Amino acid sequence: MGWGDVCIYLLYLLLQMGWGDLGILGQPEKETPNLDKMAAEGMLLLDFYTANPLCSPSRAALLTGRLPIRNGFYTTNDHARNGYTPQEIVGGIPDSEVLVSELLSQAGYRNKIIGKWHLGHRPQYLPLRHGFHEWFGAPNCHFGPYDNKATPNIPVYNGSEMVGRYYEDFAISRASGESNLTQLYVSEALDFIDRQAAAGRPFFLYWAPDATHGPLYASRGFLGTSRRGLYGDVVRELDDGVGRILARLRARGLDTNTLVFFTSDNGAAMVSRTQGGSNGPFLCGKQTTFEGGMREPAIAWWPSRIQPGQISHQLSTVMDLFTTALELAGAVPPSDRVYDGTSLLPTLLNGTEVDRPVFYYRGDELMAVRYGLYKAHFWTWTNGQDERSKGIDFCRGEDIPGVTTMQQVNYTDSPLLFHLGRDPGERYSIKPKSSEYKQAMRKLEEVVASHRAGLLPGEPQFNMCDSAVMNWAPPGCEKLGRCLKGPESKPYKCPWPH
Ligand SMILES: *[C@@H]1O[C@H](CO)[C@@H](O)[C@H](O)[C@H]1NC(C)=O
Ligand SMILES: *[C@@H]1O[C@H](CO)[C@@H](O)[C@H](O)[C@H]1NC(C)=O
Ligand SMILES: *[C@@H]1O[C@H](CO)[C@@H](O)[C@H](O)[C@H]1NC(C)=O
Ligand SMILES: *[C@@H]1O[C@H](CO)[C@@H](O)[C@H](O)[C@H]1NC(C)=O
Repeated sequence: MGWGDVCIYLLYLLLQMGWGDLGILGQPEKETPNLDKMAAEGMLLLDFYTANPLCSPSRAALLTGRLPIRNGFYTTNDHARNGYTPQEIVGGIPDSEVLVSELLSQAGYRNKIIGKWHLGHRPQYLPLRHGFHEWFGAPNCHFGPYDNKATPNIPVYNGSEMVGRYYEDFAISRASGESNLTQLYVSEALDFIDRQAAAGRPFFLYWAPDATHGPLYASRGFLGTSRRGLYGDVVRELDDGVGRILARLRARGLDTNTLVFFTSDNGAAMVSRTQGGSNGPFLCGKQTTFEGGMREPAIAWWPSRIQPGQISHQLSTVMDLFTTALELAGAVPPSDRVYDGTSLLPTLLNGTEVDRPVFYYRGDELMAVRYGLYKAHFWTWTNGQDERSKGIDFCRGEDIPGVTTMQQVNYTDSPLLFHLGRDPGERYSIKPKSSEYKQAMRKLEEVVASHRAGLLPGEPQFNMCDSAVMNWAPPGCEKLGRCLKGPESKPYKCPWPH
């Protein structure tokens, strides 16, 4: 490819937004001018997917190029349950997994993650142990505040040591929704870009602020500025941050050498109602394997290489970013394992579109598959009646009989088939007796058979929990005099309700 003679910078923006949150995708308030401009200057990918309808597994897939079922980010405690890395989780990213950060590091890159890691918070799982040179952010979500007795507040790290905790040293006001965290994350990014530009070193920046995740926060300059309430304020602040980051690349003359990719780790959470985003025309949201749970807004930006104003329907996933990054850096991943990504360079640079499948997993179960415009569900499930009665609803009252089922329904013998071109909202299943059904299912079954044949599930990381492993005494707490005393170790099987 001849990439060796240019220094390619890589910047991932993982902003936890819904498909319908961008102005360019129809969000009527048009409050994302910078992301809209980024899309207009680059390529908008309309058929881009995450690897899981929940945060931690998607992030592990993004960094390993492998489905969560392979890299271990799932549970076998119960059938088809979403798991992630709350404070009680014992597991995390196994050392046997090779992250894009490790391979880029070997290729001479300087790597930084800013924001939420979510691949495990115990010392052996932290980013500086997995190929990142710098980190400013937190291992878990910014839930809280906690009392530091039953539950510790989440630590904020600078590098390999904590520098404080959310709510204590890094204020987030639950009353007003004010916090300066996004501003801090933007300055960290600008500072990193400046330093790498000065050093003339290739870099990989993974910018993963989590302000759109509840509890929502924005800084004073953005609070109350959106017609969509606090969620809109948050989106406006992140969008502004994207604008400032891209402007800094330009100012340092790095824009034509940097591939910047924006996407989200899961669909907007319908359960958050007005405190969450929009999935546009797609069914349900986060936690589900309907389109609203896994189809993500995605923009690729690389002035002079990616022609402006393009729209692609290439089926693609977060795992493709792994393969794409390695190809650009001239790095070769170990050949002893299966990867689920393919390089997006032919699409990004030449507009090529090729057929390939997308697999939708929930925990240990392959719930659905997409190939071309057809999507077949082998299993359907929103969430159970017990949760529904507590107001937890991953489908926001969108009730499609036989599709948005409150029980796990096994459709393996006669999958529910949708044509996402005619029916992007998965409302009208194709009749099993039709020739269209038979023809489409033949191909989908073939794709699934070949996927299953090569599948070697990893050791599940989300089976065991223990209050003793919470963030009581993170590395660096001694220096600050901020270590907390946790309880005795009492491992138990993590309950995953959905
Ligand atoms: C993080 O650590 C670096 C390197 O030690 C230091 O220069 C920087 O000021 C620290 N940043 C914060 C916000 O603590
Ligand atoms: C954010 O920063 C501003 C300006 O420094 C300060 O006045 C404000 O109190 C900070 N807000 C929080 C929640 O820390
Ligand atoms: C793009 O197309 C050109 C001309 O056909 C070809 O030489 C090049 O290898 C292609 N690049 C990619 C990344 O597919
Ligand atoms: C789902 O249905 C298929 C086909 O009938 C069957 O082989 C499989 O065991 C079922 N799975 C479960 C977990 O019941």
